[in-house]
Amino acid sequence: MIKDIASRKSRFPFMRNSVGLDIDLIEEIYGKGSFECHLPNEGQHFIFSQSRPFDLIELEQLLQSVGWSRRPLKRVKKALDNSLLKVGLWRHDPKFPRLIGFARCTGDGILEATVWDVAISPIYQGSGFGKKLMLYVIKSIKEMGIKRITLFADPGVIDFYKSQGWTLDPKGMKCAFWYAN
Ligand SMILES: CC(C)(COP(=O)(O)OP(=O)(O)OC[C@H]1O[C@@H](n2cnc3c(N)ncnc32)[C@H](O)[C@@H]1OP(=O)(O)O)[C@@H](O)C(=O)NCCC(=O)NCCS
Repeated sequence: MIKDIASRKSRFPFMRNSVGLDIDLIEEIYGKGSFECHLPNEGQHFIFSQSRPFDLIELEQLLQSVGWSRRPLKRVKKALDNSLLKVGLWRHDPKFPRLIGFARCTGDGILEATVWDVAISPIYQGSGFGKKLMLYVIKSIKEMGIKRITLFADPGVIDFYKSQGWTLDPKGMKCAFWYAN
């Protein structure tokens, strides 16, 4: 298990709407509070949103594109409804925005939050989107007053999290799973 004691005082310049698309246009398409994710990516715009509804099929296609198994859509919908936080990263198109990144969190809203389903479309991996997505997720959780965040990292991405300040197995802690047969 990896934990982040979310106390870093980071700045998030990628959250500014100062250049690029018009803020009103962004909020009209992607919902209140959405903002442009600024990365050096010529000719394309990318938007973070917590309020644009997800097309469940598109979301599951994104998660399958990174190698995860198909899940029943009805259960996914309930899981999203019960999540503390759902963040979509969209490649902007005024008519057909495309979901290219996603993360969500569960928790009690006070003490604990756990990050799940962090994914960036393979086409856009390696450009800095994953790091910005995690910065945004952590900032949003901190704003809820939650001071401890956990996640379960696949072996291949442990260094991705470690390089962002996450602590692997703090105090020798190990995660445990129980599976219903
Ligand atoms: C893991 C994932 C979200 C990273 O997104 P990304 O957009 O490719 O990552 P970024 O481009 O923001 O990379 C940020 C930094 O992490 C590093 N990094 C990215 N993926 C890494 C990996 N798998 N292992 C180690 N380091 C990694 C990058 O080299 C970069 O380093 P830098 O800041 O020194 O340049 C993405 O690869 C993904 O969706 N993977 C499949 C799903 C998955 O495994 N999710 C995690 C579930 S626990």
